Amino acid sequence: GDVRLWGARFADGPAEALAALSASVHFDWRLAPYDIAGSRAHARALHTAGLLTQDELSRMLTGLDRLEADVASGAFVATVADEDVHTALERGLLEQLGPDLGGKLRAGRSRNDQIATLFRMYLRDHARIVGGLITDLQEVLVALAEAHPDAAMPGRTHLQHAQPVLFAHHVLAHVQALGRDAERLRQWDERTAVSPYGSGALAGSSLGLDPQAVAAELGFGGGSSGNSIDGTASRDFAAEFAFITAMIGIDVSRIAEEIIIWNTKEFSFVTLHDAFSTGSSIMPQKKNPDIAELARGKSGRLIGNLTGLLATLKALPLAYNRDLQEDKEPVFDSCEQLEVLLPAFTGMMATLTVHEERMAELAPAGFSLATDIAEWLVRQGVPFRVAHEVAGECVKVCEAAGIELDQLTDEQFAAISPHLTPEVRSVLSVTGALASRDGRGGTAPSAVAVQLAEIKADVAVQ
Ligand code: ARG
Repeated sequence: GDVRLWGARFADGPAEALAALSASVHFDWRLAPYDIAGSRAHARALHTAGLLTQDELSRMLTGLDRLEADVASGAFVATVADEDVHTALERGLLEQLGPDLGGKLRAGRSRNDQIATLFRMYLRDHARIVGGLITDLQEVLVALAEAHPDAAMPGRTHLQHAQPVLFAHHVLAHVQALGRDAERLRQWDERTAVSPYGSGALAGSSLGLDPQAVAAELGFGGGSSGNSIDGTASRDFAAEFAFITAMIGIDVSRIAEEIIIWNTKEFSFVTLHDAFSTGSSIMPQKKNPDIAELARGKSGRLIGNLTGLLATLKALPLAYNRDLQEDKEPVFDSCEQLEVLLPAFTGMMATLTVHEERMAELAPAGFSLATDIAEWLVRQGVPFRVAHEVAGECVKVCEAAGIELDQLTDEQFAAISPHLTPEVRSVLSVTGALASRDGRGGTAPSAVAVQLAEIKADVAVQ
């Protein structure tokens, strides 16, 4: 028979081409458990409103339980003839309960308020999954920082040697960014915990249903929508979710890019574990950082999902429009991509080897202690303008002679400036340079230890 939820006023059935275009069941079937949960809550609301007897409610709930079990076991599956998840489940319910009782559940709800509610429920669950995966990555990065508490590395700006930093400090910078992503997910969840159920197609219901009770049953701590038009038409929750997942992709891709660079022969800061590297089909010697490259690549895809969704939403009149069926696949994809990417990426970070000696050797290279000379001069009372020039002169002399700053002789220092007494050598070491930046947020081991303690407390409560 006809499974459509809307055939009565039509003389002809849908054209095949329309049905093919219109179908969403191939991607919204994953919402079936949420639709059944919504149906249970809705059945109770109908009962409270006097529209289902106690006996009808019990049989309805039993039917929904059996349908849920059949969906979970695969005994009941959606077919291509079911336009969407709602159609398929109504067919399943009618099979369980017969048309008299099964046909009562649709009263007072619309696919418009249903889909808006289910989409929120699904994304809220996946926000928790993705949040947990971010915590896993943060914990691995924290452990990496803790495993190398004293390792120095060249800190860079413009990818050029800038000033030495602690490796742990650099790694924790990524942990800070990921912490904000996790926080975004939590704040998003709080905003999204509002249930559109009861909004109907757009105008609410005349049946005396209690949307607040439905919201509570479905775990929406923020209650039900205050405006049924907004409840069915708004998708900013989806766009914001797409932004947050894109931002996660971008933050991970920034780590990825560094791993790719650090893993080159020229840098040799890290070696990736064999289990998290790939080979070449032609070059036998190759060991490639494909996980990091896929992280970089997938971040582009996540950005595309966000911009595609924003384009779909732009200038849509209120309330529901079928364009909104295009809202789900991009966001589902963003969840799926992160849920395969993050475990692999975390595994790669957990197993890489860090070459402390190599990083330490390069930490003072490229005249990265020039700022320390200038700041030492300032501490001797020299104005920074002069100090900057004097330190710059030191670099110039070194560059011409092909030496590093700590190789300048006392005579060369004195010739550059009378302020440059041999005591300047006290700051010409990476250890000294690091230890001196001991203010809050600085790269001194003491400051990084404070940061580490704060981060560990934060990650633990996420
Ligand atoms: N499949 C639809 C969607 O994803 C569900 C809502 C359909 N509503 C409608 N009036 N056709 O948006």
